[in-house]
Amino acid sequence: MAAILDGKAVAEEISREVAAEVQRLKKTGVAPCLAVLLVGDNPASQTYVRNKEAACQKVGIASRVVRLPADITQEELLRAVEELNEDEGVHGLLVQLPLPPHLDPRPVMAALRPEKDVDGFHPLNMGRLQAGEECLWPCTPHGIVQLLRRSRIPLAGRHAVVVGRSNIVGKPMALLLLQEDATVTVCHSRTPDLAALTRQAELLVVAVGRPRTITGEMVREGAVVVDVGINRVDGRLVGDVDFESVAPRAAAITPVPGGVGPMTVAMLLFNTVQAARRLAGQGLGLEGGARAYGAGAG
Ligand code: GUN
Repeated sequence: MAAILDGKAVAEEISREVAAEVQRLKKTGVAPCLAVLLVGDNPASQTYVRNKEAACQKVGIASRVVRLPADITQEELLRAVEELNEDEGVHGLLVQLPLPPHLDPRPVMAALRPEKDVDGFHPLNMGRLQAGEECLWPCTPHGIVQLLRRSRIPLAGRHAVVVGRSNIVGKPMALLLLQEDATVTVCHSRTPDLAALTRQAELLVVAVGRPRTITGEMVREGAVVVDVGINRVDGRLVGDVDFESVAPRAAAITPVPGGVGPMTVAMLLFNTVQAARRLAGQGLGLEGGARAYGAGAG
């Protein structure tokens, strides 16, 4: 039976480290602050934003949620972004997605001040990530790398298969795994024989947003399985991986809930503190950036 990769525990460990850094920053006159723009009343988005506020409070980061009506125009939203870009008391800034269908997220992401873009969704940060340059890493893939490092799971030379090619998870995940020297295959909805590829994976990361897409016979014996899915089925949260059939074959697996989810929020806190340090002219984040955390573990 697989070892459980306890994202909740690792996220708490990272939160403690972030809280210590927040205290240090406050002593230098910098009080880290995250601003969240929430458009409309999508219930899932409201829950995510509440979780982000609560997580900020726990580590001493100030949070500001700007709620805008669902019928706001593109121009009004861009003005709201601009105002927070210019606000010197705000260090991290994100626009909760998805936006209502009449709004185009792309110009909104491009309007964010890149130094405050704690989601890592600005085109400049996406470009820096693919070039392997220092930047704010998208929270979910960043959280997965941290969880694996701190669980002492080596990545260099391993065959990693990523299922899903979204801009938020799949694509940046593939890039970060390449930076960790894994050999990376990316699969998606048009991949003809998905199982033939997933069976080759030593590390399998699944982010497709469809419940129980990956079943036991699709997984290699001894694989490490990371489940990014959060799906509500009959009032219960389930992942994209069929835990019951996959866990007996895997060496390690993330549960849903309590796996990747808490890591995403922890890395948002981490990125906010990194942004605050950088904006205050105190260097590139916690001891040279994300690599400092768990360095050497992989
Ligand atoms: N909606 C779902 N995931 C995310 C995320 O990581 N960031 C933002 N801003 N919105 C999301």
